[in-house]
Amino acid sequence: ASWLSSHSMLPVKAIGCRNPQAIIIGVRKGGTRALLEMLNLHPDVVAATSEVHFFDQDENYDKGLAWYRSQMPPSLPGQVTVEKTPGYFSSLKAPERVHAMNSSVHLFLIVRDPVERLVSDYTQVLHNRQERDKPYQRLENILLRGGQLNTQYKAIQRSLYAVHLARWLRFFPLGQIHVVDGGNLIRDPLPELRRAERFLGLPPRITSANFYFNQTKGFYCLRGEGGLQKCLDESKGRPHPAVEGTILERLCTFFSRPNEDFFSMVGKTFNWC
Ligand code: A3P
Repeated sequence: ASWLSSHSMLPVKAIGCRNPQAIIIGVRKGGTRALLEMLNLHPDVVAATSEVHFFDQDENYDKGLAWYRSQMPPSLPGQVTVEKTPGYFSSLKAPERVHAMNSSVHLFLIVRDPVERLVSDYTQVLHNRQERDKPYQRLENILLRGGQLNTQYKAIQRSLYAVHLARWLRFFPLGQIHVVDGGNLIRDPLPELRRAERFLGLPPRITSANFYFNQTKGFYCLRGEGGLQKCLDESKGRPHPAVEGTILERLCTFFSRPNEDFFSMVGKTFNWC
């Protein structure tokens, strides 16, 4: 949020780059950018603009915490610094490393129907390959190997939320991991933001005036300070390729058990396929 305009009379000394007190750990394609941008509407929140990949990439982790802090935006005492790197959620090393930085950090996990997430994940890779004139396969061809579901496919693995969450729960109690419903954030962002504010211990400052539905984009866009309007960029909310109904059914069947595991882990159910 706008730390400069609203606090311009404070001594420069008070402004510094701090370790984040909140991290959006994933899930990739769950709506992590939307959540970060929307949290950033709060005057007491400052957000790192790009994904830092500190805890999941050794070459960054080896640079140390001073480097990590230097990647954060300046903030004032009392403001909450947030970063998002969706790669943390499925990283083997991230939970322990995050815990070593700050065992009481606030963690956000935004999840979405695992099948939709998978298709979104595939769509992103497809788009990147098409842009670079690289060969690509239809999703159906990647998903099926000799008529069987290729469960080793990365996008399937990344949708196994219970598997990844279990690793985080070895280091953090569930109460420290706030689960956001990515489907709700698309349909009606404000209630999810209210809960997020509460989780961060912040006064409710994000309001319905901060959102407007953009018919062209087909998503909610943001209205910030001074009425400045902003939609997420075109890589967010891309049309997905059509996927054969039989494949979708197989995916839904495959995910039904892991989804149940996830629901009992977080004590909440989601309206997924
Ligand atoms: P799709 O592009 O598949 O629709 P992430 O930021 O984690 O990569 O997630 C991207 C997803 O955020 C998008 O996936 C989109 O569905 C979702 N999203 C949620 N709220 C959005 C918003 N207001 N504008 C655009 N995309 C949004």
